[in-house]
Amino acid sequence: SSDNTSAAAVAKDLLTPVLSANWGDADSYTLDGYRRHGGYRGLAKALAMDPDELIAYVKEAGLRGRGGAGFPTGMKWQFIPQGDGKPHYLVVNADESEPGTCKDIPLLYANPHSLIEGIVIACHAIRSSHAFIYLRGEVVPVLRRLHAAVAEAYAAGYVGKDALGPGKDLELVVHAGAGAYICGEETALLDSLEGRRGQPRLRPPFPAIAGLYASPTVVNNVESIASVPAIIDRGKDWFRSMGSEKSAGFTLYSLSGHVARPGQYEAPLGITLRQLLELGGGMRPGHRLKFWTPGGSSTPLLTEEHLDIALDYEGVAGAGSMLGTKALQCFDETTCVVRAVTRWTEFYAHESCGKCTPCREGTYWLVQLMRDLEAGKGSMADLEKLLDIADNINGKSFCALGDGAAAPIMSSLKHFREEYEQHVTGGGCPFDPAKSTVWA
Ligand code: NAI
Ligand code: SF4
Repeated sequence: SSDNTSAAAVAKDLLTPVLSANWGDADSYTLDGYRRHGGYRGLAKALAMDPDELIAYVKEAGLRGRGGAGFPTGMKWQFIPQGDGKPHYLVVNADESEPGTCKDIPLLYANPHSLIEGIVIACHAIRSSHAFIYLRGEVVPVLRRLHAAVAEAYAAGYVGKDALGPGKDLELVVHAGAGAYICGEETALLDSLEGRRGQPRLRPPFPAIAGLYASPTVVNNVESIASVPAIIDRGKDWFRSMGSEKSAGFTLYSLSGHVARPGQYEAPLGITLRQLLELGGGMRPGHRLKFWTPGGSSTPLLTEEHLDIALDYEGVAGAGSMLGTKALQCFDETTCVVRAVTRWTEFYAHESCGKCTPCREGTYWLVQLMRDLEAGKGSMADLEKLLDIADNINGKSFCALGDGAAAPIMSSLKHFREEYEQHVTGGGCPFDPAKSTVWA
């Protein structure tokens, strides 16, 4: 309708393409394509700054980690001890695997040089001469592009001998992981990078103190590091002019599910799902939103009543969830919430690394109960059992995977208990598989 068209036009003003500015260019992933959009200008400015000044600058810009937790990036850099005589490492976490999360992979595919430029800047700041990109190995086309982009950066002298100034070399290694979700947990990632089976380490010590090869290590998400060059080039005030006081800047939102135009939308932190849906053409015609995740399945799900909360760290927390990876998965009224949560729970049980009992055993039992409910073999007592098990996992597991597994169970029972009960009283799923799109 014309109403929808004008809403979409207004919403379009919200877009702030920075990382995605060149994605439409045929050569966006090449050095030439990147430089045409001002690429490597931020690096020249950063190298003229003192490392401590650079760290302070990124802190003042207010950049927060885009991997999910939102930890201030500059503060993480500042934790690296100076004058300790140990090597310092930068490790970029490109092991994006959270269900629904799909922003780093397209960013790397379309614009790998924004990450490489950010890496060189970050290494100057933390006085590191070795950086690693730990990429999800399954994404072979991205791996190839990344290797090609790194080779271009070496050939152009941005990386390699004297990259950080006379006598200051920088080595950059791309490592392909073997496809375990847990290897996206930063300490499991470090174990995997060191050649061991990836399992989380006890924190503290945090990687900033004892990380790769027990040396001070910054582990940052792809989008966090790729955002740095533009901040240095265009200034911290420009960055702070977007978003909110505590959640500054632009970011990539991944809109998916039953929406008319799923995809990546780059806009300031703090916009709402309602606005994002306007950008994405709304829910598919004739359907309405039933539930959604703000940041992938490990963030408690929300409903239509939360359409106007600010998509920033504070706004989403205020609604009882977490911003996480900004993976907005939207489900319409044809979706059985019990079915969707069963699928996610199976994922967590499969990916549980087995190190700690609450998660290893708990996710197994959650799957059994969810499958029973789905098949009409559940009881009302099972709903309490689900909550009890989730409560024994949440906050009591060794790493965040356990909390992630508990989140969909607890939040779906909070918002859709009636639907769970219908599965018990009606002897199975009340949804018609022929009308649903999530019955695969
Ligand atoms: P966290 O809050 O424990 O830590 C965040 C970062 O801050 C880490 O790098 C940590 O080393 C650092 N940090 C925190 N306190 C520190 C201190 N006192 N000293 C030094 N450094 C400190 O979060 P965590 O467990 O690392 O990650 C959880 C998040 O990961 C979730 O919010 C979730 O959204 C996200 N996630 C993302 C996935 C993806 O595919 N991108 C997959 C699964 C989860
Ligand atoms: Fe492994 Fe799960 Fe425990 Fe994390 S919470 S250490 S994934 S068993």
